[in-house]
Amino acid sequence: MALNKINPQQTDIWKKLTAHYEETKGTHLRSLFSSDAKRAEKFTLQWNDFLFDYSKNRISEETMQMLLKLADEVNLKGAIKDYFGGDLINETEGRAVLHTALRAKRDDVVLVDGENVMPEIYEVKEHIKEFTNSVINGELKGYTGKAFTDVVNIGIGGSDLGPAMVTEALKFYKNQLSIHFVSNVDGDHVHEILKTLDPETTLFVVVSKTFTTQETLSNATTIKKWFLNHGTQEDIAKHFAAVSTNSEKIAEFGIDAANVFPMWDWVGGRFSLWSAVGLTIALAVGYDNFDAMLQGANETDVHFKETEFSENIPVVMALISVWYNNFYGAETEAIIPYAQYLSRFSAYLQQGIMESNGKSVDRAGNKVGYETGTIIWGEPGTNSQHAFFQLIHQGTKLIPTDFIGFKHSLHGDKDHHNKLMANYFAQTEALMNGKTKEEVVAELKTKDLSEAEINKLASFKVFAGNKPTNTILMNKLTPKSLGSLIALYEHKIFVQGVIWNIFSYDQWGVELGKQLAGTILDDINNSDISDHDSSTLRLLQYFKK
Ligand code: F6P
Repeated sequence: MALNKINPQQTDIWKKLTAHYEETKGTHLRSLFSSDAKRAEKFTLQWNDFLFDYSKNRISEETMQMLLKLADEVNLKGAIKDYFGGDLINETEGRAVLHTALRAKRDDVVLVDGENVMPEIYEVKEHIKEFTNSVINGELKGYTGKAFTDVVNIGIGGSDLGPAMVTEALKFYKNQLSIHFVSNVDGDHVHEILKTLDPETTLFVVVSKTFTTQETLSNATTIKKWFLNHGTQEDIAKHFAAVSTNSEKIAEFGIDAANVFPMWDWVGGRFSLWSAVGLTIALAVGYDNFDAMLQGANETDVHFKETEFSENIPVVMALISVWYNNFYGAETEAIIPYAQYLSRFSAYLQQGIMESNGKSVDRAGNKVGYETGTIIWGEPGTNSQHAFFQLIHQGTKLIPTDFIGFKHSLHGDKDHHNKLMANYFAQTEALMNGKTKEEVVAELKTKDLSEAEINKLASFKVFAGNKPTNTILMNKLTPKSLGSLIALYEHKIFVQGVIWNIFSYDQWGVELGKQLAGTILDDINNSDISDHDSSTLRLLQYFKK
């Protein structure tokens, strides 16, 4: 079935939520905590090795009841069934959305057009396993008989961000292969990387769902030319692998069929790292770790599918985000992992969240009358504390922030880890409590300052507090826990798309720029320039001079 087309603003509960917001918006988190000793307990969920504390949000039990009602009124339950059931919920492209099948159990049954796709998925997984094992253990060799030392992932968007983020996140588990990522069509990117490579020992993995993406094809072509300065056309078979739905184009490019890994149109690019798009991940950390990541995601899928909404982490994450986005008017959300290994996590989620829910037309084709997708940003803590946290603490904008941390570090340096985590806890506490004028004055009085100096400084040192945060505390960064974490955010995206009555799995908005770039490339390469606005025209003339 297609997803319902329910305008959330037309639900009964939306009006009540609006009134509830007006009544409660002035309440400070401090008072919510002081009036309820059990608040943290009430608003904490524990699942597997995850602890999700959402008590430092501007919510009460009543707020949560109402938000849960909203989930019911938009028929979230039915939507989840359609999502996992392989219904064509990506209506504008006529496709199912089944990245969840990629991490399902071998004996699960997932039907697409009446056919169980699980055997095919496991066949590809087997191929990934064999291929990656033989590269890692040196059985598969380059054209001069040497084992591979380097792997280059050539892709962009979902064909780059997922593998790049995970390869960095799981660096601790990495083997001897050096992994590189070429994505930008900026030639300086590819040439900078080629500079360091030995063609005899480098494996290139071209990843493109469509195999038509300008950036990826340009980079792959440049690399192929570079390779042919050293090896022969025949040697390409040994050095290039491809992941795509487009077998025809791969054959045209000259990649050996044995090194081709299929994917399916029911896997969206930004949700594709679980498919053969994750080949580079499996090469970097070994198949077993790749598979453990899939298992972690599968456990999240089961949690999401089977848990009551009030105890369901992705549902609660999504509802709280809707609360701020649609009632408080918060435009952005920050995601701050207190783990250097997760340095690419926010960048990865930017595509997942913003390409999915950056839509302004509802599922009935009408312009929406409310806010949809949030702007996502973030960098690891503690570095970000010394960069942009000032604005989160004392700026004028409300920025709900997710804090992600781990009980244990990977290298086991307790001293460092305790300092890191002290900051992690301190920030959420400071953001919530802030510091009142009285506290500031009392503190200044302990210093050697005059009354006048105290009065002058006090207002600048006041922190309003009342800044909402979620705390996600996990045991340890492992392939499995990472898989679970990514999947939590994937399902948050889904829930929000359902509530906002938008199609989360297409991305027409990126097409126009692509089309225009085609026309402008002709303008740049040819002597005549076609018709443009006066600004674009002058810029092109200046560029060509
Ligand atoms: O331009 C956006 C996009 O279509 C993404 O959704 C996708 O992940 C990326 O381009 C790359 O596409 P492909 O894998 O087909 O090269």
